[in-house]
Amino acid sequence: MQKLAIQGGNRLNGEVRISGAKNAALPIMCASLLAADDLILANLPDMHDVATMGKLLQQMGVKIEPDGQTTRFNAAHVDKLEAPYDMVKTMRAAILVLGPLVARFGEARVSLPGGCAIGSRPVDLHIKGLQAMGAEIHIEHGYIHATASRLKGARICFDLVSVTGTENLMMAAALADGVTVLENAAREPEVIDLAVCLRAMGAKVSGDGTDTITITGVDKLHGASHRIMPDRIESGTFLVAAAATGGKIVLTDARADILDNVLDKLREAGAKIEVSGDRIELEMDRRPTAVNLRTAPYPAFPTDMQAQFMALNTIAEGSAIVVETIFENRFMHVQELRRLGAQIDVEGNTAVIKGCAQLEGATVMATDLRASASLVIAGLVAQGETVVDRIYHLDRGYEHIEAKLSALGAQIRRIK
Ligand code: UD1
Repeated sequence: MQKLAIQGGNRLNGEVRISGAKNAALPIMCASLLAADDLILANLPDMHDVATMGKLLQQMGVKIEPDGQTTRFNAAHVDKLEAPYDMVKTMRAAILVLGPLVARFGEARVSLPGGCAIGSRPVDLHIKGLQAMGAEIHIEHGYIHATASRLKGARICFDLVSVTGTENLMMAAALADGVTVLENAAREPEVIDLAVCLRAMGAKVSGDGTDTITITGVDKLHGASHRIMPDRIESGTFLVAAAATGGKIVLTDARADILDNVLDKLREAGAKIEVSGDRIELEMDRRPTAVNLRTAPYPAFPTDMQAQFMALNTIAEGSAIVVETIFENRFMHVQELRRLGAQIDVEGNTAVIKGCAQLEGATVMATDLRASASLVIAGLVAQGETVVDRIYHLDRGYEHIEAKLSALGAQIRRIK
């Protein structure tokens, strides 16, 4: 199993290009299933989840060809309408093939995701939504088996905000008969990016970015070209890493307009931030101040940035309260941060962090994607060497993270 060895103490300094967003790329790759023509995608990030999704689509019969700076997806000949357990268990986002497959081919078999490190994460909202659109759904042998002659538009109100739930139903509705209205829909920027791509393919979608999305189904979608938006979580991760190490960095190809909450919290922690066009510059010239935060659906503070800010708080001046409202059990990084000397108490979904002057390097284990990022940040500030084990979690969702951090002056190397 691969590990990262980090020698802490270096300030991050320099410029780093932000990659395409994982959480936009995955649903948009699935949108290729909705048409028989080419979908050409630019700015696809090079990371394991994107490769896994590519493999899944190829197994179904989608042709995927790199073409210079872009990748061409063609779903003219799809012959296997199934997402097997092996794939879904390693990447929950594989559930995103369900909506497109039922909508275009009238059938899908997708494995139930099962548990994962950050909680039980059911897919009931995806299933209920498709049933409301007229799909017959049976759960058999651990698989969701959905059939429909043609999906029908429906009014669907989500019990709670689900990002991939919204995306799955938006894609299904694009080819349904009639109008679908999604209420209490997710407002995440990645949902908007998918809507932009669907519109380019000929779908009639409006209201994305608000909590009510309206989709008027069409008979057929066509090919399109689309550039994947920048990754706001990768952006936030580098900014927090720079702030924690007292560094000065510039993100390029980034978007500040979708990072409001994260930038506000970094300013509250004492960082100076300047934005100009697609560049975000951060400078931190003192020990960070502890910042309280509470995760919630966009536009509130993202759960995918909670662990990284926890790492920042461990070495901050003062104490902070962090409340996680999206996922039960998303404090797996706490025990590992404690191994580096962090002082954190957890009670239910609330963590109280008492900042300490210095962390000390140790061997820690990555448990999920963003938890891994928090351990890397902690390793960058800790005294001595930190070894982060099980970094396959990190490789799922960050493009060339150690190369990017090295270029910023971090002492970090992969142990194979
Ligand atoms: C997406 C993101 C993930 C992010 C999360 C929350 C992708 C590929 N992943 O995950 O990085 O952390 O949003 O911003 O975009 N829920 C149900 N029933 C359902 C669906 C969800 O109860 O059918 C619950 C979940 O257990 C969770 C909450 O709803 O407590 C939100 O989950 P959801 O927004 O669906 O997360 P994902 O879309 O899986």
